Amino acid sequence: MIKTIAWKNNTVILLDQKALPLNERYITCRTYQEIISAIKDLTVRGAPAIGVAAAMGAALGAAALSSIPPEKFRHKFSAICAEIAQSRPTARNLFWALERMKKHLEDSIKSGSKNLVQELISEAKRICTEDIEINRQMGKNGRALLADGDNILTHCNAGALATAGYGTALGVIRAAKAEGKNLHVYVDETRPVLQGARLTAWELQKEKIPATLITDNMAGFLMQQGRIDKIIVGADRIAANGDIANKIGTYALAVLAKAHGIPFYVAAPLSTIDVSIKTGATIPIEERSGTEVTHLRGLPIAPAKTKVYNPAFDLTPARYITAIVTERGILRKPYLNSIRTASKGNPGHETISF
Ligand code: MRU
Repeated sequence: MIKTIAWKNNTVILLDQKALPLNERYITCRTYQEIISAIKDLTVRGAPAIGVAAAMGAALGAAALSSIPPEKFRHKFSAICAEIAQSRPTARNLFWALERMKKHLEDSIKSGSKNLVQELISEAKRICTEDIEINRQMGKNGRALLADGDNILTHCNAGALATAGYGTALGVIRAAKAEGKNLHVYVDETRPVLQGARLTAWELQKEKIPATLITDNMAGFLMQQGRIDKIIVGADRIAANGDIANKIGTYALAVLAKAHGIPFYVAAPLSTIDVSIKTGATIPIEERSGTEVTHLRGLPIAPAKTKVYNPAFDLTPARYITAIVTERGILRKPYLNSIRTASKGNPGHETISF
């Protein structure tokens, strides 16, 4: 299995996703500041993987606090979490993981735990192992949506690399393949950072799942030619009404899918759902450096000083989404109802207020 992230001897080991597919190398983070840099520069990326990295980063920060009284520890830990929360704005999992770590600290203080640092390290490791279990469950829940012989289009990387392991959208594809279905995947290269070409194509090759790489602007033509049976993508944040934020280019695919009568599926854990917001309109969309657009691997592909707009994500309204695969089953429209039902009893999600 591809290992994206691991806690080892009070350090965090990350597969360096910037170096793929040319180099398969791991980096070691010893401080929470190093985790912040790794999230910012996309060494670790993909909503669930960012969440796990944030939790482990918070645990690294806690481990560096010398033995201080709980009141002070809480204050300092809170400040560390607030700093990590600034690393990227869109993926809900980042904030979810930090909230869970803070809640665990409160519970540990209340129960009189003598070793708060160890408590936080254990919680971060739990978030990591649970993520893999959740992805496997999503795979089992979603695999029936894919039929033997399907040609599936995916965008960005929602695979093992984007999670602690197994993947969300690619997890569903993995699970369908594991039950004997023959599938073929069209991989959008995903400009400007090329998560599809560099990461998804690499993962699928490792898994021996037949795949064909296309540039993003080819997707519409393939749909018109009847070459695509289904589309499945991940999500960075899902609003209570089912609107999703995902990698830039997702919205165009969803609209095209509707025009061609192609099912458009999203696979994401409940930790990606933000029940505090009613629609996608208020999801913060990250804007990244213009050099991601003007340069390829350090080489300029546009005239110097070219003006650039580089939103990293876009919003897909719920009406374009055929179904959302979660660890609690397949959610259908109206999503406000199905999300409310799926969220019941899930810590941090009960408070859907509309
Ligand atoms: O900028 P990235 O590479 O972090 O963007 C990742 C995506 O858009 C993924 O589709 C999303 O996080 C889901 S990953 C399971």
